[in-house]
Amino acid sequence: MPGRIPQSFIEDLLARTDIVDVIDGLVPLRKAGKNWQALCPFHDEKSPSFTVSQDKQFYHCFGCGVNGTAISFLMEYSNMGFVEAVESLAARAGLDVPREGGGPVRSEAGLGEIHELLELVIEYYRRQLKEHPQAARAVEYLRSRGLTGDLAARFEIGYAPPGWDNLITALGRSDAALQRLLKAGMLIQREGGGYYDRFRDRIMYPIRDHRGRAVGFGGRVMDESTPKYLNSPETPVFHKGRELYGLHQLRGANPARLIVVEGYMDALALAQFGITGAVATLGTAATREHLERMFRITPRIIFCFDGDDAGTRAGWRALETALPLLRDGRQVYFLFLPEDEDPDTHVRRHGPGTFEEEGRLVPLSDHLINTLKEGVDLNTREGRARFVDRAAPHLGALPTGALRQLLIQDIARLAGTGPEQIDPLLRRPKSRATPRRQAQRRGTQTGRPNPVLLGSIIRMLLFRPALAQLVPETGSFRTGAPGEVFLAELLDFVHSRPNISCAGIVENWRDSPFESRLRELSSIRDDAELEGLDLEREFADAMAALHEQKSRLERRSQLQGKGLKDLSEDERQQLRNRKPRGGSIRK
Ligand code: UTP
Ligand code: MN
Repeated sequence: MPGRIPQSFIEDLLARTDIVDVIDGLVPLRKAGKNWQALCPFHDEKSPSFTVSQDKQFYHCFGCGVNGTAISFLMEYSNMGFVEAVESLAARAGLDVPREGGGPVRSEAGLGEIHELLELVIEYYRRQLKEHPQAARAVEYLRSRGLTGDLAARFEIGYAPPGWDNLITALGRSDAALQRLLKAGMLIQREGGGYYDRFRDRIMYPIRDHRGRAVGFGGRVMDESTPKYLNSPETPVFHKGRELYGLHQLRGANPARLIVVEGYMDALALAQFGITGAVATLGTAATREHLERMFRITPRIIFCFDGDDAGTRAGWRALETALPLLRDGRQVYFLFLPEDEDPDTHVRRHGPGTFEEEGRLVPLSDHLINTLKEGVDLNTREGRARFVDRAAPHLGALPTGALRQLLIQDIARLAGTGPEQIDPLLRRPKSRATPRRQAQRRGTQTGRPNPVLLGSIIRMLLFRPALAQLVPETGSFRTGAPGEVFLAELLDFVHSRPNISCAGIVENWRDSPFESRLRELSSIRDDAELEGLDLEREFADAMAALHEQKSRLERRSQLQGKGLKDLSEDERQQLRNRKPRGGSIRK
């Protein structure tokens, strides 16, 4: 196995790369003020909200929220893996990619090789369905589920025979081949050494990505044993949160709407009955990436869930994921099936004709209002207040546009008030406040440093890393809450790299728990505002506020450690002034 790519190389690579060149080569950019813009390649739009900052070496779309570095862009836009993206940027910069431990530079199985290998695996399983001595059972199972041979061929369904090393024997003859099978998720490593086949005695459903490349499998048992389905693990080419089963088979079909179902069998049954456009999530909730992928194909998405509690919950989760993506023109519907049916059984029982009956399609906005109304009594003021309170975060999640406007009106009407009364409840506390004012506005109520304050400090650092020089000493934060420790690490990281960009910082924390927050705080949206400030002062003030907060917190926890009668009158006064959260002070 090749070693990791050293972090210092990533930094160096980003320093020699200009994100504007990288993106402009794929999506032509136009200068707009200090930044660059284009129509966002990740969602449909009419005016450009995709913005690239050369200073920060970071992109951000104000419409759909995608953001990241040159590496992220290649990963998202060109569907590369991390290593592949780094290699591609290195090739542009004329650099070789070094590996930790001085291992071989380019011996890692490239993603292309994994895709090719998985093609062979698909072929192998299909052949077993035709030729293996025990295949009759698999064929019989498929027949019992009502699948035709045509459909099985179209979806390339296969059979993994019983036994621990069928695939190993067929396709893993050399050590390199074994490594590739392992990397593709087809093998499991034995504790004592050696490998065995992951999929045994199962019906195999190959999964292809939207470009048609083989990425993984789902495998179903033919009896009642568990687990019913086994899926490929996450691998360099397979990400459950991105792929949709059945999407590839729709190529060229241009369906006017997509139907999202939960199971492999559901997608297959609908296809067999001529209902084109069904795709299945792979045992996970629908993600934003799933939805964005589908919205690139059609503006109309129907979620079809089982009629049980799990289906209801999945529906609500899907609604929450969809809300921020519902720009004008995009439509999401729900189709809830009767309690004991899934799309597969439903279409077999009732035929395809009634599946999408208009009357059963519930528009997302109706589903939202219906659910919010549940259990509140709109005849009482308290009930109406609760209703508005519940609705506010959901309305706030919607992008501005006609749908949001109309929903606000309807919710206001139901609550017996006017839209103008609701609107202020949705506004995020952000907007005009400078970081300093924000920091001052929020007092410290919890035993942790104020996240808003920390956030604004980090935002300023990402905007202008040189500000770190104002805080040469970070030791006092090292013993604090996780956010403070992170700030200390961030400051020290920047101290030793005076020329680091925002992108360099974000990449350093890739795949860490801080990545998503860092990306969020890197947003280019508020840069213009920061530009206009005396940033050094803002930053110094915010740091002073953080220190002050910290000593107040420490003081408080000391006081709380003492019995009340041990306190001086002064200390008692202090305690009275700061009401601790959640409970009274014990005597
Ligand atoms: P279902 O149990 O609803 O699937 O699970 P299904 O397609 O209707 O199954 P059958 O063949 O008709 O009985 C929905 C999806 O959840 C994932 C699979 O992706 C499945 O299609 N799942 C389910 C698993 O990954 N593992 C399991 O053990 C069960
Ligand atoms: Mn089913």
